Amino acid sequence: MEGICPVTQSEGVTLAEHDRPRTSTEGHGSQDPAATEYTSRDAGADGGSPLLTTTLPRRRESSARSYPQRLPITLAWGRGAVVGDTRGGEYIDCLAGAGALALGHHHPAVDDAIRATLDSGAPLSTLDLSTPVRDQFVEQLFSILPSSLSSGRILFCGPSGADAVEASIKLARTCTGRTGVIAFGGGYHGMTQGTLALTGRRSAKEPLGALLPEVHHLPFPTEYRSPFGPSANADIAGRLVTWALTDDHSGIAAPAAVIAEPVQGEGGVYPMPAPFAATLRASTRSAGAVLVADEVQTGLGRTGSLWASDPIGLDPDVLVLSKAIGGGLPLAVIVHRGELDAWQPGAHAGTFRGSALSMAAGAATIREVVRGGLADRARELGQRLSDGLRAVAGDDARAGDIRGPGLMVGVELVDPAAADADGVPAPDGRLAQAVQRAMMNRGVIVEVGGTDDAVVRFLPPLIIDEEQIDQVVDAFGAALRAVPAALPHHNSKAPS
Ligand SMILES: Cc1ncc(COP(=O)(O)O)c(C=O)c1O
Repeated sequence: MEGICPVTQSEGVTLAEHDRPRTSTEGHGSQDPAATEYTSRDAGADGGSPLLTTTLPRRRESSARSYPQRLPITLAWGRGAVVGDTRGGEYIDCLAGAGALALGHHHPAVDDAIRATLDSGAPLSTLDLSTPVRDQFVEQLFSILPSSLSSGRILFCGPSGADAVEASIKLARTCTGRTGVIAFGGGYHGMTQGTLALTGRRSAKEPLGALLPEVHHLPFPTEYRSPFGPSANADIAGRLVTWALTDDHSGIAAPAAVIAEPVQGEGGVYPMPAPFAATLRASTRSAGAVLVADEVQTGLGRTGSLWASDPIGLDPDVLVLSKAIGGGLPLAVIVHRGELDAWQPGAHAGTFRGSALSMAAGAATIREVVRGGLADRARELGQRLSDGLRAVAGDDARAGDIRGPGLMVGVELVDPAAADADGVPAPDGRLAQAVQRAMMNRGVIVEVGGTDDAVVRFLPPLIIDEEQIDQVVDAFGAALRAVPAALPHHNSKAPS
């Protein structure tokens, strides 16, 4: 294929010598680059990891692989909020399968549910045929849905958030007979051609050309780095939505759907203000558009309430769910108002809509989240995390903003020396990635996201404890202090 696709070399952030990843004898974060040769001694702290004598499997993986670019470790085990690598390093996992692991790794209730399903001899893959496991999952989920959807319908989708988002748009188009969709800058809805069209991040879509047609992005009402300027009234964003939906000269054909996250996750942890949610609800209703809440990441307690749509009054017509509702196994559904159930049998299908293990793990997770009051706990621990991060950031101007509800927290790192015309400092993705690496070396895994990937993201399992929260906070403080104020210059940005 040489000559068809230009191959670019990945380039990471240069770290100061004192911040280099430690070896296994020094503690956390033993570097484990793709070129590492495994020996029996390296084969895993649990002794159960497969013995690898060649790096060939990893060299076979595509360049599209993303997390290992910034987290060069090989995970061997996980328990609760902690994961361990093949070289003895241990980390508090604030990535948690990008929010999929509400109960952390190997929660006994989830493991037991999976084992019981295996032992019962239940068929593991049943398309959309009825099974007792499926019925139990549906019953469990409906027992905690927002009241407006409690008499709605559920559709099991292919087991990814993106497929469920696709289904929600297909349903809205089918019901309204319209084509267009309004989405928001900073939104993230997946990586298929349809969901990428709805997603804000440009770098992933620019190489691809035409995606889903008639998608329009409007600004999301962010307080920090507002597209309307720092002193602008936040309800301008709501006015824009109302104008786009109702003014017959707005240039935007009446859309089938408006899709939004109640808290933008990948876009940099921006919570939707309640007045904006009210405007979205009212204007979509009067324009006859379907309001889709993408709760793939926020759903099931993460933000301090079972559904992030609830406390802001978003009251969606369609709720898109994945990640946590599968208990860490692949599962995705949409739940929608009964009156939208307008499509034909087979209108949205997929082979893996009937995974018994995912449904069993999901039902067990829902039960545990409710029984343990984990949404309330996420609110309390999230407060402890945010307060702690503010305290350790102190007056370091590089911590530009700390935000997010519950255990969905982001710290936007900035370059105080480079402000825009409004005096808002520029996002500093290189700093965020250096802090991410320095935190890994201190035993904490975090993610980055947002504009320029400058937001350090904390998405720990909801079962994380106070002591671990304090360790995460300390690791962030130490990492920020360890990364020099002026990072060594680099020819190009680290890959995102
Ligand atoms: C809000 C939101 N929607 C959709 C998706 C896509 O889910 P998946 O990666 O399972 O396709 C994600 C993934 O992070 C997400 O955060």
